[in-house]
Amino acid sequence: MPETVKAQIARLRRELDEHNYRYYVLDDPQIPDADYDRLFRELQQLEEQHPELITPDSPTQRVGGEPSEAFETVEHVVPMLSLGNCFSDEELADFDRRVKKGLDEEHVAYVAEPKLDGTAITVIYENGRLVRAATRGDGSTGEDITPNVRTIDAVPLKLRGKNIPPLLEVRGEAYMPIAGFRAFNERAVAAGEKVYVNPRNAAAGSLRQLDPRLTAERPLAAYFYGWGQVQGWDFPPTHIEVLGQLRDWGLPVSPLIERVEDVEGCLDFYARIGKQRPDLPYEIDGVVYKVDRLAWREELGFVARAPRWAIAHKFPAEEAMTRLNDVEFQVGRTGAVTPVARLEPVFVGGVTVSNATLHNMDEVERKDVHIGDTVVVRRAGDVIPEVARVIVDKRPHNARRVSMPTECPVCGSAVERVEGEAVARCTAGLTCRAQLHGALVHFVSRRALDIEGLGDKLLAQLIDAGRLKSPADIFTLTADELAALERMAEKSAQNVIDAIEASRETSLWRFLYALGIREVGESTAQALAAHFGTLEALLAAAEADLPTLHAEKAKDRCPALQAVPDVGTVVAAHICQFLHEPHNRQVIEALQAEGVHWPEVEVAQGPQVLEGKTFVLTGTLPTLTRDEAKAMIQAAGGKVSGSVSTKTDYVVAGEAAGSKLTKAQDLGVEILDEAGLQALLQ
Ligand code: IVH
Repeated sequence: MPETVKAQIARLRRELDEHNYRYYVLDDPQIPDADYDRLFRELQQLEEQHPELITPDSPTQRVGGEPSEAFETVEHVVPMLSLGNCFSDEELADFDRRVKKGLDEEHVAYVAEPKLDGTAITVIYENGRLVRAATRGDGSTGEDITPNVRTIDAVPLKLRGKNIPPLLEVRGEAYMPIAGFRAFNERAVAAGEKVYVNPRNAAAGSLRQLDPRLTAERPLAAYFYGWGQVQGWDFPPTHIEVLGQLRDWGLPVSPLIERVEDVEGCLDFYARIGKQRPDLPYEIDGVVYKVDRLAWREELGFVARAPRWAIAHKFPAEEAMTRLNDVEFQVGRTGAVTPVARLEPVFVGGVTVSNATLHNMDEVERKDVHIGDTVVVRRAGDVIPEVARVIVDKRPHNARRVSMPTECPVCGSAVERVEGEAVARCTAGLTCRAQLHGALVHFVSRRALDIEGLGDKLLAQLIDAGRLKSPADIFTLTADELAALERMAEKSAQNVIDAIEASRETSLWRFLYALGIREVGESTAQALAAHFGTLEALLAAAEADLPTLHAEKAKDRCPALQAVPDVGTVVAAHICQFLHEPHNRQVIEALQAEGVHWPEVEVAQGPQVLEGKTFVLTGTLPTLTRDEAKAMIQAAGGKVSGSVSTKTDYVVAGEAAGSKLTKAQDLGVEILDEAGLQALLQ
């Protein structure tokens, strides 16, 4: 019997999928490209004759759809984290020591992976079908780039193999191979179009095309190395096994990835990959080591936005020589006055650099930097370029010394340097235009009050117009006055006003973070909010701590603030001082008077409801970060431990909970979800 069209189409798709898999995942193609193209065209023709038989996961359906006007935002249910960096064997050894100490283990094996220099993507498969893909964004929300990612041949539209989870979110790097990058740029030059400075920018730029047909023309590829949400799958105990399974499901995983037994194995891998680097068809900027055992990762958890169980070991920075034309001083949001090198533009590490940091005056002196010097500029991956050293032999006679201005270059107020600190600061606070601008940029940023549309330039315009003198003034802006500004359409003015309006309703931690207290990042702000529950309680603690601010022994300073998890003497002192500054109190009061408000955070008052109870946290909770959950439990008198034993009272389990959950079930320990925890805390 002759093959039906339907069967013929199914067979062609199967064959094409198989060849794709052999090519991208196994790196072992079986047929020449021309044969692949012939099969592909055969399928295309059949589908054209029988459009009713087209399915979205057919290999012909990678490009489709019309350009969109803007990307939708997507919330990452499991945040997309970044990585800590290290640059030397010693720093790596420190990481290994921290890991072992944290786990109380003597032997910890790692998985070593090349660190691809592309752009992070996350791809969701439901029942084995690609349904969504997104960028990393700020780690909590990214942009929906599904149609663009579908055009990457290496990313399967449909998974293969057995036991495919109903929900599988995989994470990896989309990159542009070097050869493709060069060819693309050559074509762009010929056509008089924009060229990209390096393959990383090319990959990121290609994925952010609003027209997926343009993305389809870009030579992109991808490798996967991690995951987000997973439902309906029992995780194996190790990372290397998960990667093996991803590969079996048809996802490309770098063939260079290895499990290594210890830190020596990491260094050996680093050396070998370093040698291979010039011959690799894509750019890498280092290697990544990850604790192999998943249960241990859970135990280690995260600091701020990076895991404690992984680190990037970067290749040495690239260096180039150029002339230092001038040194200027920039004033940051905390008033720090930093010397910045203005350079004769130089190409280093794939980009043209014309500014570099000189860090602070101690560094300028230590390196003996003079204006007019020939200097070595160093650039490592995405780190800010710096002046590494001076070639003293090449110093011209008219070279000039660099001196710290005694007056703020922006507002003219006195610049002060506190004894023992490397940084000099402008003393004017928010009356200094630079500090005000920095403070406002921080205040409206995503993780703070999140006022979209109120960007750097607009803030600068409003400051110059004398309309913004303190954060509270933001809430007095009107759509009419915004629309009257240059480059402002009525609609965007209204959008900004709407965003300001919406930001009045916030949370205590965002508010505290937005204030820009020195050393108070988002996780410290969260810990403060969870510990004190209300602004009043925090202010009262700062009040009570004031007399101890200058106590002789550091550990006796600010005991009420130091009681907050992760708040040490230095941070406690910054908080205490900040909250006593009359001007800062005025800012806080003015913001509240403008209607900025937040719900009270539940903290146990009076009798400690969780006194004597031991908790273990596992997996990802739907709304709370692990630090938040921990702080809430501790605030209610409970203890949080890293491992489950017969002494554990409750295990709080979230998404992708692992061996701790199993152990809790075995031991008959009570298991709670986030709602259960909240109920206990009530
Ligand atoms: S793991 C929780 N593995 O590097 C850990 N990242 O500097 C999250 N990257 O945003 C990342 N190769 O874009 C990981 N083998 C690898 C990687 C890798 C490249 C990128 C990724 C990430 C950035 C962090």
